[in-house]
Amino acid sequence: MPVRTPARRVSVDPQGPVLIEGPVEIVLDDGRVARSDRFVVAVCTCRRSRAYPWCDTSHRCRERGGPPPEDRNPR
Ligand code: FES
Repeated sequence: MPVRTPARRVSVDPQGPVLIEGPVEIVLDDGRVARSDRFVVAVCTCRRSRAYPWCDTSHRCRERGGPPPEDRNPR
């Protein structure tokens, strides 16, 4: 019987981030690699995070109909 390699588990929140069992490395558009060693890593799918590629919960503003993060603290 073949031995199965443990699968990496990914959970998709349709209103928020993708949750991936860490550690995780993400190759960004410019070729840089972002790494997180957390047990579960929240990867931003809305592109509103100021900590992109990591979710910083900015997607919640859109869910509640509030202003985007850049409009909350105008300078
Ligand atoms: S998914 Fe959470 S900030 Fe983008």
